[in-house]
Amino acid sequence: MTRRSIGVIMNGVTGRMGYRQHLVRSILAIRAQGGVELADGTRIQVEPLLVGRSEAKLRDIAEQHGLDRWTTDVDAALSDPDMQIYFDAQLTSVRETSIVKAIEAGKHIYTEKPIAESVEAALNLARRANQAGVKNGVVHDKLYLPGLVKLRRLIDSGFFGRILSVRGEFGYWVFEGDWQSAQRPSWNYRKEDGGGIVSDMFCHWDYVLTNLFGRVEAVTARAVTHIPQRWDEQGKPYDATADDAAYGIFELDGGIVAQLNSSWCVRVHRDELVEFQVDGTEGSAVAGLHNCVAQHRGATPRPVWNPDLVETEPFRDQWQDVPANTDVDNGFKAQWEEFIRHVVEDGPHPYDFLAGARGVRLAEAGLESSAEGKRIALPELTL
Ligand SMILES: NC(=O)c1ccc[n+]([C@@H]2O[C@H](COP(=O)([O-])OP(=O)(O)OC[C@H]3O[C@@H](n4cnc5c(N)ncnc54)[C@H](O)[C@@H]3O)[C@@H](O)[C@H]2O)c1
Repeated sequence: MTRRSIGVIMNGVTGRMGYRQHLVRSILAIRAQGGVELADGTRIQVEPLLVGRSEAKLRDIAEQHGLDRWTTDVDAALSDPDMQIYFDAQLTSVRETSIVKAIEAGKHIYTEKPIAESVEAALNLARRANQAGVKNGVVHDKLYLPGLVKLRRLIDSGFFGRILSVRGEFGYWVFEGDWQSAQRPSWNYRKEDGGGIVSDMFCHWDYVLTNLFGRVEAVTARAVTHIPQRWDEQGKPYDATADDAAYGIFELDGGIVAQLNSSWCVRVHRDELVEFQVDGTEGSAVAGLHNCVAQHRGATPRPVWNPDLVETEPFRDQWQDVPANTDVDNGFKAQWEEFIRHVVEDGPHPYDFLAGARGVRLAEAGLESSAEGKRIALPELTL
């Protein structure tokens, strides 16, 4: 069997996503399995070069995982001809500048979302990457979740008939940081540092809705800051200037209406941290991160509204579990493998910078809708 390798610059590996999902669960897992297998049976091993601002943290991570390449000098990393891919999991607000440098260095680029802080900047990156002829991709991890993979199978099988609506709940309580430490980084709650739940989540909602149900044609949203003061990693109070909850209505191609709540200020009374209910003329389904249950038209009970009686119907028991039927790997890793095949053998990977720009545009439109109190129509986005 032929073996080759590909060098990947990983910027932001000291962060939550960069370390856990991208380095440990994806790149190191791919290394451990002997690389990515191509169509002709060749295996491509990945050789990461860790990049960050703290030498001590990088050295610790490298030593812990038996890696020997790390640097605090992004420019030096970008000038290394052995490195074909640049990956970015830095803070959103510093991403654009680094990606521009990576394009100029001729690297193929894979990045966390959102790809930039404005639509103009995102489209600019997409245009520049295309002009430079470098492959480009944005994390679309939610599409690879086992629950959504099952949901997609139901959609593809025609189970729903005509899909009418989608109702989604995403969220959990993020501690303020005073009496219990916050479980998300404090920059998420500061607008000036690129925080906010709309910019964080609407780019996910754009690709989930577009790829499963239809293009988002309009949005009406209300974004709020429910908790105006939080405590940072040093225990210091700060003004939470960014939105921490958003209530959105998304009108999709084909007349489907999606209503999605995103909140860091809700307590969970659900089976999973995100759940989508899809209702169609022939059946309905509820999908979460892992699970998916369905109810067919022919098995739908006939509830009757009677507020005088205590409810006796076991509604949750009336749904059928949708099986996985196949092993579903970690979504971040699965997408990494697709992107590497895209770079090496031109395999399919439709989730490019333009798709990333569409996500940023939905976030921008959501914030505009909220600020102006109006519905924002979204024409097709092109380069
Ligand atoms: N796909 C997803 O589900 C998902 C989930 C959470 C976050 N994200 C995205 O991942 C990115 C990182 O988020 P995170 O939660 O890991 O944040 P984090 O704060 O844990 O990590 C941020 C990283 O950026 C680096 N960094 C911070 N400030 C910097 C600066 N001024 N210059 C250069 N580097 C700097 C940090 O050292 C760290 O490595 C964000 O863009 C976020 O939107 C994606």
